[in-house]
Amino acid sequence: MDGLETLKAKYLMAVAAAADENALEEVRLAALGKKGEVSALMATLGKMDPDQRKAAGAMLNVLKDEIDAALRAKKAALGDAALDARLRAEWLDVTLPARPRRAGTIHPISQVMEELTAIFADMGFAVAEGPQVESDWYNFDALNIPPEHPARQEHDTFFMHRAEGDNRPPHVLRTHTSPVQIRALMDKGAPIRVIAPGRVYRMDMDQTHTPMFHQVEGLAIDRDISMANLKWVLEEFCRAYFEVPSVELRFRASHFPFTEPSAEVDIRCSWEGGQLKIGQGDKWMEILGSGMVHPKVLAAAGVDPAQWQGFAFGMGIDRIAMLKYGIPDLRAFFESDLRWLRDRHTHRPAKTRV
Ligand code: PHE
Repeated sequence: MDGLETLKAKYLMAVAAAADENALEEVRLAALGKKGEVSALMATLGKMDPDQRKAAGAMLNVLKDEIDAALRAKKAALGDAALDARLRAEWLDVTLPARPRRAGTIHPISQVMEELTAIFADMGFAVAEGPQVESDWYNFDALNIPPEHPARQEHDTFFMHRAEGDNRPPHVLRTHTSPVQIRALMDKGAPIRVIAPGRVYRMDMDQTHTPMFHQVEGLAIDRDISMANLKWVLEEFCRAYFEVPSVELRFRASHFPFTEPSAEVDIRCSWEGGQLKIGQGDKWMEILGSGMVHPKVLAAAGVDPAQWQGFAFGMGIDRIAMLKYGIPDLRAFFESDLRWLRDRHTHRPAKTRV
Protein backbone atom coordinates (compact mmCIF):
# COMPACT_ATOMS: atom_id res chain seq x y z
CA MET A 1 0.00 0.00 0.00
CA ASP A 2 2.81 2.38 -0.74
CA GLY A 3 2.10 5.30 -2.94
CA LEU A 4 -1.33 6.15 -1.51
CA GLU A 5 -0.18 9.68 -0.76
CA THR A 6 0.98 10.05 -4.38
CA LEU A 7 -2.37 8.72 -5.59
CA LYS A 8 -4.22 11.14 -3.35
CA ALA A 9 -2.18 14.13 -4.56
CA LYS A 10 -2.70 13.08 -8.18
CA TYR A 11 -6.49 12.92 -7.92
CA LEU A 12 -6.92 16.02 -5.78
CA MET A 13 -4.97 17.94 -8.40
CA ALA A 14 -7.06 16.43 -11.18
CA VAL A 15 -10.24 17.43 -9.35
CA ALA A 16 -8.97 20.98 -8.91
CA ALA A 17 -8.04 21.17 -12.60
CA ALA A 18 -11.40 19.89 -13.94
CA ALA A 19 -12.91 22.76 -15.91
CA ASP A 20 -16.46 21.46 -16.22
CA GLU A 21 -18.79 18.71 -15.07
CA ASN A 22 -17.74 16.31 -17.85
CA ALA A 23 -14.06 16.59 -16.98
CA LEU A 24 -14.93 16.06 -13.33
CA GLU A 25 -16.89 12.91 -14.16
CA GLU A 26 -13.85 11.53 -15.99
CA VAL A 27 -11.72 12.08 -12.89
CA ARG A 28 -14.32 10.30 -10.77
CA LEU A 29 -14.38 7.31 -13.12
CA ALA A 30 -10.57 7.11 -13.26
CA ALA A 31 -10.36 7.04 -9.46
CA LEU A 32 -13.55 5.61 -8.02
CA GLY A 33 -15.31 4.08 -11.03
CA LYS A 34 -15.60 0.28 -11.30
CA LYS A 35 -12.36 0.11 -13.25
CA GLY A 36 -10.77 3.05 -11.45
CA GLU A 37 -7.40 3.02 -9.74
CA VAL A 38 -8.73 3.12 -6.17
CA SER A 39 -11.26 0.42 -6.94
CA ALA A 40 -8.48 -1.73 -8.38
CA LEU A 41 -6.53 -1.39 -5.11
CA MET A 42 -9.67 -2.30 -3.17
CA ALA A 43 -9.86 -5.50 -5.23
CA THR A 44 -6.40 -6.57 -4.02
CA LEU A 45 -7.60 -6.61 -0.39
CA GLY A 46 -9.08 -10.07 -0.85
CA LYS A 47 -5.66 -11.61 -1.40
CA MET A 48 -4.14 -10.18 1.77
CA ASP A 49 -3.95 -11.83 5.15
CA PRO A 50 -6.42 -10.51 7.76
CA ASP A 51 -4.09 -8.12 9.63
CA GLN A 52 -2.74 -6.59 6.47
CA ARG A 53 -6.24 -6.34 5.02
CA LYS A 54 -7.55 -4.48 8.04
CA ALA A 55 -4.85 -1.82 7.94
CA ALA A 56 -4.87 -1.43 4.14
CA GLY A 57 -8.68 -1.39 3.98
CA ALA A 58 -8.90 1.45 6.49
CA MET A 59 -6.33 3.53 4.57
CA LEU A 60 -8.08 2.91 1.26
CA ASN A 61 -11.42 3.94 2.71
CA VAL A 62 -9.93 7.18 3.98
CA LEU A 63 -8.45 7.84 0.54
CA LYS A 64 -11.75 7.06 -1.15
CA ASP A 65 -13.65 9.41 1.17
CA GLU A 66 -11.16 12.22 0.63
CA ILE A 67 -11.37 11.99 -3.14
CA ASP A 68 -15.15 11.68 -2.97
CA ALA A 69 -15.43 14.81 -0.79
CA ALA A 70 -13.21 16.77 -3.17
CA LEU A 71 -15.32 15.63 -6.13
CA ARG A 72 -18.56 16.72 -4.44
CA ALA A 73 -17.21 20.11 -3.41
CA LYS A 74 -15.96 20.76 -6.91
CA LYS A 75 -19.25 19.62 -8.42
CA ALA A 76 -21.19 22.09 -6.27
CA ALA A 77 -18.81 24.91 -7.20
CA LEU A 78 -19.11 24.10 -10.92
CA GLY A 79 -22.93 24.03 -10.54
CA ASP A 80 -22.94 27.50 -8.98
CA ALA A 81 -20.68 28.79 -11.73
CA ALA A 82 -22.94 27.27 -14.41
CA LEU A 83 -25.99 28.92 -12.81
CA ASP A 84 -24.19 32.25 -12.62
CA ALA A 85 -23.25 31.99 -16.27
CA ARG A 86 -26.83 31.13 -17.20
CA LEU A 87 -28.22 34.02 -15.21
CA ARG A 88 -25.78 36.36 -16.93
CA ALA A 89 -26.72 34.98 -20.36
CA GLU A 90 -30.46 35.20 -19.69
CA TRP A 91 -30.34 38.72 -18.33
CA LEU A 92 -33.33 40.71 -19.44
CA ASP A 93 -33.67 44.47 -19.72
CA VAL A 94 -37.15 45.07 -18.33
CA THR A 95 -36.90 48.76 -19.21
CA LEU A 96 -37.01 47.94 -22.94
CA PRO A 97 -40.27 49.02 -24.58
CA ALA A 98 -42.70 46.20 -25.46
CA ARG A 99 -42.56 44.88 -28.98
CA PRO A 100 -45.69 45.98 -30.82
CA ARG A 101 -46.34 42.59 -32.44
CA ARG A 102 -46.62 41.07 -28.97
CA ALA A 103 -48.95 43.72 -27.65
CA GLY A 104 -51.90 42.33 -25.69
CA THR A 105 -55.50 43.41 -25.81
CA ILE A 106 -57.79 44.45 -23.00
CA HIS A 107 -59.86 41.53 -21.75
CA PRO A 108 -63.53 42.08 -22.62
CA ILE A 109 -64.50 41.88 -18.93
CA SER A 110 -62.04 44.64 -18.01
CA GLN A 111 -63.29 46.71 -20.90
CA VAL A 112 -66.90 46.28 -19.84
CA MET A 113 -65.99 47.21 -16.25
CA GLU A 114 -64.45 50.43 -17.50
CA GLU A 115 -67.47 51.17 -19.67
CA LEU A 116 -70.02 50.64 -16.93
CA THR A 117 -68.02 52.55 -14.35
CA ALA A 118 -68.00 55.54 -16.72
CA ILE A 119 -71.75 55.30 -17.38
CA PHE A 120 -72.65 55.09 -13.68
CA ALA A 121 -70.18 57.87 -12.89
CA ASP A 122 -72.22 60.11 -15.20
CA MET A 123 -75.23 59.34 -13.03
CA GLY A 124 -73.36 60.28 -9.86
CA PHE A 125 -72.27 56.84 -8.65
CA ALA A 126 -68.82 56.51 -7.02
CA VAL A 127 -66.91 53.21 -6.94
CA ALA A 128 -66.75 51.22 -3.68
CA GLU A 129 -64.68 48.12 -2.97
CA GLY A 130 -64.59 45.17 -0.61
CA PRO A 131 -62.57 41.97 -0.10
CA GLN A 132 -63.17 38.78 -2.09
CA VAL A 133 -62.58 36.64 0.99
CA GLU A 134 -65.43 37.88 3.12
CA SER A 135 -66.71 37.16 6.59
CA ASP A 136 -69.90 35.25 7.06
CA TRP A 137 -71.43 38.33 8.68
CA TYR A 138 -70.92 40.68 5.73
CA ASN A 139 -71.80 38.09 3.08
CA PHE A 140 -74.94 36.80 4.85
CA ASP A 141 -76.04 37.99 8.32
CA ALA A 142 -75.88 41.73 7.69
CA LEU A 143 -77.88 41.14 4.49
CA ASN A 144 -80.70 39.58 6.48
CA ILE A 145 -79.62 36.01 5.74
CA PRO A 146 -79.26 34.42 9.21
CA PRO A 147 -77.48 31.04 9.56
CA GLU A 148 -80.58 28.88 9.16
CA HIS A 149 -81.92 30.82 6.14
CA PRO A 150 -82.48 28.64 3.01
CA ALA A 151 -80.86 31.33 0.81
CA ARG A 152 -77.52 30.22 2.24
CA GLN A 153 -77.91 26.86 0.46
CA GLU A 154 -78.87 28.52 -2.81
CA HIS A 155 -75.60 30.44 -2.89
CA ASP A 156 -73.40 27.34 -3.53
CA THR A 157 -70.76 28.89 -1.31
CA PHE A 158 -67.02 28.16 -1.25
CA PHE A 159 -65.88 28.08 2.39
CA MET A 160 -62.39 28.84 3.68
CA HIS A 161 -60.78 26.53 6.27
CA ARG A 162 -60.57 27.43 9.93
CA ALA A 163 -57.74 26.10 12.09
CA GLU A 164 -58.51 22.89 14.01
CA GLY A 165 -60.54 23.72 17.11
CA ASP A 166 -61.55 27.21 15.91
CA ASN A 167 -65.33 27.09 15.97
CA ARG A 168 -66.10 30.52 14.53
CA PRO A 169 -68.03 30.43 11.23
CA PRO A 170 -65.59 30.09 8.34
CA HIS A 171 -64.88 32.96 5.98
CA VAL A 172 -66.31 32.54 2.49
CA LEU A 173 -65.40 33.56 -1.04
CA ARG A 174 -68.04 36.24 -1.45
CA THR A 175 -71.03 34.85 -3.33
CA HIS A 176 -72.20 38.29 -4.47
CA THR A 177 -71.08 41.93 -4.35
CA SER A 178 -73.86 42.80 -1.87
CA PRO A 179 -71.53 42.73 1.19
CA VAL A 180 -69.96 45.87 -0.30
CA GLN A 181 -73.31 47.64 0.33
CA ILE A 182 -72.80 47.02 4.04
CA ARG A 183 -69.16 48.09 3.99
CA ALA A 184 -69.92 51.27 2.05
CA LEU A 185 -72.82 52.23 4.32
CA MET A 186 -70.81 51.58 7.48
CA ASP A 187 -67.94 53.54 6.05
CA LYS A 188 -69.74 56.53 4.48
CA GLY A 189 -73.29 56.47 5.87
CA ALA A 190 -76.31 57.96 4.06
CA PRO A 191 -76.99 59.59 1.64
CA ILE A 192 -74.88 57.45 -0.67
CA ARG A 193 -74.68 56.48 -4.32
CA VAL A 194 -72.11 53.81 -5.18
CA ILE A 195 -71.41 50.93 -7.52
CA ALA A 196 -69.13 48.03 -6.55
CA PRO A 197 -67.80 45.99 -9.48
CA GLY A 198 -65.80 42.84 -8.73
CA ARG A 199 -65.28 39.11 -8.65
CA VAL A 200 -67.69 36.74 -6.96
CA TYR A 201 -67.64 32.95 -6.54
CA ARG A 202 -70.17 30.11 -6.63
CA MET A 203 -69.89 26.38 -7.26
CA ASP A 204 -71.53 26.32 -10.65
CA MET A 205 -70.30 25.54 -14.17
CA ASP A 206 -72.07 25.39 -17.53
CA GLN A 207 -72.42 27.48 -20.69
CA THR A 208 -73.74 30.49 -18.79
CA HIS A 209 -72.16 29.91 -15.34
CA THR A 210 -68.54 29.81 -14.19
CA PRO A 211 -67.34 29.29 -10.57
CA MET A 212 -65.79 32.77 -10.62
CA PHE A 213 -67.73 35.53 -12.28
CA HIS A 214 -68.26 39.28 -12.01
CA GLN A 215 -71.03 41.41 -10.64
CA VAL A 216 -71.56 45.09 -10.23
CA GLU A 217 -73.53 46.13 -7.20
CA GLY A 218 -75.45 49.38 -7.23
CA LEU A 219 -76.68 51.19 -4.13
CA ALA A 220 -78.51 54.48 -3.86
CA ILE A 221 -79.80 55.61 -0.46
CA ASP A 222 -81.42 58.96 0.25
CA ARG A 223 -84.57 60.31 1.91
CA ASP A 224 -87.04 59.63 -0.88
CA ILE A 225 -85.56 57.20 -3.42
CA SER A 226 -88.15 54.82 -4.91
CA MET A 227 -88.48 51.86 -7.26
CA ALA A 228 -89.18 54.34 -10.07
CA ASN A 229 -85.67 55.75 -9.68
CA LEU A 230 -84.31 52.19 -9.90
CA LYS A 231 -86.17 51.55 -13.15
CA TRP A 232 -84.95 54.80 -14.69
CA VAL A 233 -81.33 54.18 -13.70
CA LEU A 234 -81.35 50.64 -15.15
CA GLU A 235 -82.98 51.67 -18.41
CA GLU A 236 -80.65 54.62 -18.77
CA PHE A 237 -77.68 52.35 -18.10
CA CYS A 238 -78.77 49.75 -20.68
CA ARG A 239 -79.35 52.38 -23.36
CA ALA A 240 -75.91 53.87 -22.82
CA TYR A 241 -74.13 50.55 -22.46
CA PHE A 242 -75.66 48.86 -25.50
CA GLU A 243 -75.57 52.16 -27.42
CA VAL A 244 -79.19 51.87 -28.58
CA PRO A 245 -82.13 54.30 -28.37
CA SER A 246 -84.18 51.79 -26.41
CA VAL A 247 -83.85 48.35 -24.88
CA GLU A 248 -86.61 46.15 -23.59
CA LEU A 249 -86.34 45.21 -19.95
CA ARG A 250 -88.72 42.89 -18.10
CA PHE A 251 -89.19 43.34 -14.34
CA ARG A 252 -90.28 40.12 -12.64
CA ALA A 253 -91.42 40.09 -9.02
CA SER A 254 -88.88 38.08 -7.06
CA HIS A 255 -87.47 37.57 -3.61
CA PHE A 256 -84.16 38.47 -1.99
CA PRO A 257 -83.76 38.56 1.79
CA PHE A 258 -82.01 41.93 1.56
CA THR A 259 -84.60 43.79 -0.55
CA GLU A 260 -88.34 44.36 -0.19
CA PRO A 261 -89.95 44.49 -2.68
CA SER A 262 -87.59 42.66 -5.05
CA ALA A 263 -87.44 42.31 -8.80
CA GLU A 264 -85.34 40.34 -11.23
CA VAL A 265 -84.68 42.00 -14.54
CA ASP A 266 -84.40 40.29 -17.93
CA ILE A 267 -83.37 41.79 -21.24
CA ARG A 268 -84.86 40.83 -24.60
CA CYS A 269 -82.42 38.93 -26.81
CA SER A 270 -82.07 36.20 -29.41
CA TRP A 271 -79.72 33.22 -29.72
CA GLU A 272 -80.31 32.63 -33.41
CA GLY A 273 -77.52 30.76 -35.21
CA GLY A 274 -75.58 30.49 -31.94
CA GLN A 275 -75.14 34.27 -31.91
CA LEU A 276 -76.47 36.32 -29.05
CA LYS A 277 -78.17 39.55 -29.99
CA ILE A 278 -79.89 42.04 -27.75
CA GLY A 279 -83.00 44.09 -28.42
CA GLN A 280 -84.65 41.56 -30.71
CA GLY A 281 -85.86 37.96 -30.67
CA ASP A 282 -88.15 36.04 -28.40
CA LYS A 283 -85.74 35.11 -25.60
CA TRP A 284 -85.10 36.82 -22.29
CA MET A 285 -81.79 36.77 -20.45
CA GLU A 286 -81.69 37.49 -16.75
CA ILE A 287 -79.09 40.18 -16.11
CA LEU A 288 -79.74 41.38 -12.59
CA GLY A 289 -81.50 41.19 -9.24
CA SER A 290 -82.75 44.33 -7.54
CA GLY A 291 -85.15 45.89 -5.07
CA MET A 292 -85.63 48.39 -2.27
CA VAL A 293 -83.04 47.86 0.45
CA HIS A 294 -84.60 46.01 3.40
CA PRO A 295 -84.88 48.12 6.59
CA LYS A 296 -83.04 45.39 8.51
CA VAL A 297 -80.07 45.74 6.14
CA LEU A 298 -79.92 49.51 6.66
CA ALA A 299 -80.12 48.97 10.43
CA ALA A 300 -77.36 46.32 10.36
CA ALA A 301 -75.12 48.86 8.61
CA GLY A 302 -75.95 51.55 11.19
CA VAL A 303 -78.29 53.62 8.99
CA ASP A 304 -81.69 54.63 10.43
CA PRO A 305 -84.41 53.04 8.24
CA ALA A 306 -86.97 55.57 9.54
CA GLN A 307 -85.06 58.33 7.80
CA TRP A 308 -83.38 56.68 4.82
CA GLN A 309 -84.44 54.41 1.99
CA GLY A 310 -83.25 53.42 -1.44
CA PHE A 311 -82.58 50.74 -4.01
CA ALA A 312 -79.89 48.17 -4.67
CA PHE A 313 -79.13 45.95 -7.63
CA GLY A 314 -76.59 43.27 -8.51
CA MET A 315 -75.88 42.85 -12.21
CA GLY A 316 -73.92 40.06 -13.94
CA ILE A 317 -71.02 41.74 -15.75
CA ASP A 318 -70.12 38.60 -17.71
CA ARG A 319 -73.72 38.33 -18.91
CA ILE A 320 -73.84 41.87 -20.25
CA ALA A 321 -70.39 41.37 -21.82
CA MET A 322 -71.67 38.24 -23.61
CA LEU A 323 -74.62 40.24 -24.89
CA LYS A 324 -72.61 43.19 -26.12
CA TYR A 325 -69.85 41.17 -27.76
CA GLY A 326 -71.97 38.24 -28.98
CA ILE A 327 -70.12 35.58 -26.99
CA PRO A 328 -72.30 32.48 -26.56
CA ASP A 329 -70.19 30.58 -24.00
CA LEU A 330 -69.23 32.24 -20.74
CA ARG A 331 -66.41 29.75 -20.09
CA ALA A 332 -64.37 31.21 -22.99
CA PHE A 333 -63.81 34.36 -20.90
CA PHE A 334 -61.64 32.52 -18.40
CA GLU A 335 -59.73 29.97 -20.48
CA SER A 336 -56.89 32.46 -21.13
CA ASP A 337 -56.65 31.37 -24.76
CA LEU A 338 -54.55 34.06 -26.43
CA ARG A 339 -56.04 33.37 -29.85
CA TRP A 340 -59.51 34.03 -28.44
CA LEU A 341 -58.37 37.21 -26.71
CA ARG A 342 -56.74 38.53 -29.91
CA ASP A 343 -59.85 37.70 -31.90
CA ARG A 344 -61.83 40.08 -29.68
CA HIS A 345 -60.69 42.95 -31.92
CA THR A 346 -62.69 41.55 -34.75
CA HIS A 347 -65.90 41.18 -32.76
CA ARG A 348 -68.18 44.11 -33.43
CA PRO A 349 -70.15 45.44 -30.50
CA ALA A 350 -73.83 44.51 -30.55
CA LYS A 351 -74.92 47.98 -31.67
CA THR A 352 -74.05 47.12 -35.28
CA ARG A 353 -76.43 44.18 -35.21
CA VAL A 354 -79.40 45.50 -33.30
N1 PHE B 1 -76.97 39.83 -4.53
C1 PHE B 1 -77.96 39.33 -5.45
C2 PHE B 1 -77.40 38.13 -6.18
O1 PHE B 1 -76.22 37.97 -6.28
C3 PHE B 1 -78.36 40.38 -6.44
C4 PHE B 1 -79.03 41.55 -5.80
C5 PHE B 1 -78.29 42.64 -5.40
C6 PHE B 1 -80.40 41.56 -5.63
C7 PHE B 1 -78.91 43.72 -4.82
C8 PHE B 1 -81.01 42.62 -5.05
C9 PHE B 1 -80.28 43.70 -4.66
O2 PHE B 1 -78.13 37.34 -6.71
